[in-house]
Amino acid sequence: MARKIFFTFQYLMNNPPWDTGISPPEVYQFLEKNSPGVALDLGCGTGTNVLTMAGYDWQVTGIDYVPKAIRIARRKARQADLTDRVKFLIGDVLNFKSLEGKYDLVLDIGCFHSFSGTNIDRYARNVSNYLTPGGSLLLYAHIKNDPGSSHGVSEENINVLGKFLTLVHRQDGDEGASRPSTWFRFRNLKQQTS
Ligand SMILES: C[S@@+](CC[C@H](N)C(=O)[O-])C[C@H]1O[C@@H](n2cnc3c(N)ncnc32)[C@H](O)[C@@H]1O
Repeated sequence: MARKIFFTFQYLMNNPPWDTGISPPEVYQFLEKNSPGVALDLGCGTGTNVLTMAGYDWQVTGIDYVPKAIRIARRKARQADLTDRVKFLIGDVLNFKSLEGKYDLVLDIGCFHSFSGTNIDRYARNVSNYLTPGGSLLLYAHIKNDPGSSHGVSEENINVLGKFLTLVHRQDGDEGASRPSTWFRFRNLKQQTS
């Protein structure tokens, strides 16, 4: 709840620091190397990355629980004339009931790293169920630099994702020791047993 209030407040104050309007190079690299398919952006904010993916002919659903972020995302899609390729949903990414279908790509930039406890397992299980066989989770997350820190995910949390998905690439970032970050690419290569 506290996280949702934080994010809602950030969008109400305008221009949250992450909302740069520019997709990271890692997203472009993925889009250049992979054929278009169906994608899901978890915690899509104002839809920058959804629109970038749609610009590469992907059909994309973005979900975020802050209504103002989704309102802005929908406006940006109309302005970019991409409404036929994108869909924006207001909702909690931990409640996947509002989502349908399977996705070749799940993108998460900055959402997973605000989860903890049982939500980590729930998220991992749900993402793996939503990926097509061979589908990818492209994930950017801040990493805890000390176990007591309230921000970021631990290596243990990353290992939970590894129970359901196969880690195929990891690139540790260099944003500074105070806030280490990593890009991960997981693929759905495992047989689902549960
Ligand atoms: C750091 S921002 C990044 C936004 C966007 N991915 C980007 O790169 O611009 C994290 C986003 O995740 C959303 N978010 C966090 N937890 C969520 C949840 N449980 N359900 C839906 N959205 C969530 C926040 O509202 C926020 O828009």
